[in-house]
Amino acid sequence: MTFVITTPLYYVNDKPHLGSVYTTIICDSIARYKRLAGEEVIFITGVDEHGLKIQRTANEKGIAPKSHCDEISEIFNNNWKDWNISFDKFIRTSSKNHEFVVNEFYERVKASDDIYMGVQKGWYCVGCEEFKDNPENSSTYKCPIHQKNLEWKNEENLFFRLSKYQKEIEKIINEPSFIEPIERKNEIINFVSRGLKDFSISRTNVTWGIPVPGYDNHTFYVWFDALLGYVSAISSDATEHSLEKSINGGWPADVHLIGKDILRFHAVYWPAMLISAKMKVPKKVFGHGFLTREGQKMGKSLGNVLDPDLLLKKYGNDPVRWYLIKDISLGNDGDFQDKRFVDIINNDLANTIGNLLNRTSSMSRKWFDNKVPNNEKISSKNKLENYAKIAVENYIYNFDNYKLDLAANEVLNLAINTNLYLNDNQPWVLIKEKDNLPLVKEIIYNVLESTRIIGLLLLPLLPELSIKINEQLGSIYREEISWKKQLIWGLLVSNSSLPKPTPIINKLEYEQKL
Ligand code: MSP
Repeated sequence: MTFVITTPLYYVNDKPHLGSVYTTIICDSIARYKRLAGEEVIFITGVDEHGLKIQRTANEKGIAPKSHCDEISEIFNNNWKDWNISFDKFIRTSSKNHEFVVNEFYERVKASDDIYMGVQKGWYCVGCEEFKDNPENSSTYKCPIHQKNLEWKNEENLFFRLSKYQKEIEKIINEPSFIEPIERKNEIINFVSRGLKDFSISRTNVTWGIPVPGYDNHTFYVWFDALLGYVSAISSDATEHSLEKSINGGWPADVHLIGKDILRFHAVYWPAMLISAKMKVPKKVFGHGFLTREGQKMGKSLGNVLDPDLLLKKYGNDPVRWYLIKDISLGNDGDFQDKRFVDIINNDLANTIGNLLNRTSSMSRKWFDNKVPNNEKISSKNKLENYAKIAVENYIYNFDNYKLDLAANEVLNLAINTNLYLNDNQPWVLIKEKDNLPLVKEIIYNVLESTRIIGLLLLPLLPELSIKINEQLGSIYREEISWKKQLIWGLLVSNSSLPKPTPIINKLEYEQKL
């Protein structure tokens, strides 16, 4: 079985912002976790390149849309590499294979008699590339997301018979795990209960799009085209029978992870399009919350946009990942606060995890000839072993249920408990009495073993920090044993060498302005 996970395909009007970095990091963590858990994974990301918004952005720059898209797509691709994102497919919707898939898919939808010509009138937000539900005073109404006026449209378009799928969609959205979290599910149930209306899938005023076969001046509506990117990504190298190859290559997606603003497209329009084309619908649509900055919406006009490049250069990958994964509950809105960021990284990563490893390794090296001590097992009950077992169980349960913040907290709590165990037992006092040597060996072994498990649990969350922990413990991760099996207590080898400790993470300094 293949596990297919997708980020949204980002608009290339601008380079990645913190919101896109957030979604991509979450998907990356899940993809890494699934791979470690033994599943075959296709992790899809990419860019949404067509439509009026991109056409206008390119026009404003005075360059051809294609050159603009080449430039920004390259930035996205490189950015994800800089963030160490483990994506398997990077789809560009301007690629040839994608155009094949869109055409083949359109033929299937047409064969289901779901396409007809009609007139589309309404208020349109170019930022969202979406008609809005007839807001009052529309000419002065600003889209709450983009803060821009809506534009009136009145043109002949091809329509998709969404209304035909009312019953099927009702059934799908009511399935227990299709839409998460529950608040989002209720929003969609509400929306669908008002009755589904057909929607237009072509445009006559947009040249930067995929031409609709048989209709000279029509291009496909950017959302019709973009959603299919998830499918074409799977067969990205194919030059023929692309749709078929995608269907056999792993479709349907197991989860589309998206922001809450684009839920309708994913949870309503998209499944209906797929049913019409006689394809399987995705198994889950997870709508995460929005990030704000110091309590305010991030926006160019507010001047508070946080450049993710800057964050990465200044603090590195893992601190940003830790903050976004651990401090924000997936599904809720989250706030990026500079001071809080610095405090969390210093407390959790530098003091709690980093220090634990550093001081224990130093003690072990000093007392036991630069080695892990022998595992003496003299106490009948091992408190720390118990903590670790429970932490591992909870972590797996939470990860499997998309509660990444709780999974991260399990790791942190294990580190906190390990520090407490160390402080309670005070091996630095015990070591003064020769008779205590076996007990000291046991304590130090247990603490090092716990840090081994902490390191392994961090692998999907903070891959770079996890590798450093591994190196500090003498490069002990074993690829020939499955990751889940390595989480079993007691695998740290007695008398193995410990390298000279170096700090795995530096403390951050708080500066007023990032
Ligand atoms: N191109 C469409 C998606 C097509 S998927 C087939 C699109 N692109 S987008 O670049 O505008 O947005 C991508 C994602 O970023 C959306 O899921 C959106 O919710 C998310 N975010 C945009 N701003 C955000 C924050 N401030 N915080 C978190 N995510 C936010 O929509």
